[in-house]
Amino acid sequence: AWTMGAFRERAIARIREQVGKGRVICGLSGGVDSSVAAVLIHEAIGDQLTCVFVDHGLMRQAEADEVVSLFRGHYNIPLVHVDASELFLKELEGVEDPEAKRKTIGRLFIDVFDAEAKKVGGADFLAQGTLYPDVIESVSFAGGPSVTIKSHHNVGGLPERMNMKLVEPLRDLFKDEVRALGRELGLPESFVGRHPFPGPGLAIRCPGAITREKLDILRKADAIYLEEIRYAGLYDVIWQAFAVLLPVRTVGVMGDGRTYDHVLALRAVTSVDGMTADFYPFDMGFLGRTATRIINEVKGVNRVVYDVTSKPPGTIEWE
Ligand code: XMP
Repeated sequence: AWTMGAFRERAIARIREQVGKGRVICGLSGGVDSSVAAVLIHEAIGDQLTCVFVDHGLMRQAEADEVVSLFRGHYNIPLVHVDASELFLKELEGVEDPEAKRKTIGRLFIDVFDAEAKKVGGADFLAQGTLYPDVIESVSFAGGPSVTIKSHHNVGGLPERMNMKLVEPLRDLFKDEVRALGRELGLPESFVGRHPFPGPGLAIRCPGAITREKLDILRKADAIYLEEIRYAGLYDVIWQAFAVLLPVRTVGVMGDGRTYDHVLALRAVTSVDGMTADFYPFDMGFLGRTATRIINEVKGVNRVVYDVTSKPPGTIEWE
């Protein structure tokens, strides 16, 4: 019978067979997929694996620290943590187009990763947490032509440039199976159960040009929203929830003063694989409470709206 335990054993045997005595380098994104791939590969080949975490400064609140402590503290897996946020934010200055953001981030990611790989003496193999849905690069809607909606920077590019063979132990798995494998490998539930987070991070949740100030506002608002979702016991029911900071300011009134601040949109969807999704029908009490908290606690936001678009015709992310 097919069990996760059996998959784990077979995957480990396959990794050992493929890699032999070679050295493997793995890019961690902070997400579930690359983390599960890294832990699995570490179990197979131990210190022949080096993990590199390129911190682009577009993570959510406290996220970078969580990744570092999970790997270094909990698993004792060697991890190179590169803080490249200055570089990424500088290169993203004034970039407004969603695909241009993805391409800029993808290019820088490869540059930084490549430089770090050289510093640790290079490697023969590159490990990636590619899942089955990532392999399908284009989305085709019923009856319609097959079109690329968004270029996901985490697939492609890196291998050719670095002249390394790929190790992709999760290539046949869907997200829920990767989570099951993560549990099987002893990853903490708080980590395994995490909502998916896009490689380009908060850059694509901040339509228009990105600034440090906007990212700070977005991080604070997003943290409050997710806290309220957890309080309400809804985190695990929802596939993905996040805030989007709009490049629009509106007039408001607070105390006896006029405000002119950003609009924040809240998004939450249910989904099985991210290919299609339904907006989550929160009750109005929840939305009202959350909006009030955000406006009171986050300077720079004076209006909150809720996105009731499903996918299709919307996509999950706004960019
Ligand atoms: P969309 O917005 O296309 O998202 O409905 C489907 C799923 O993919 C994630 N997503 C990305 N993940 N790089 C990633 O690694 C990207 O550029 C990217 N764009 C969207 C999104 O968060 C959702 O889970």
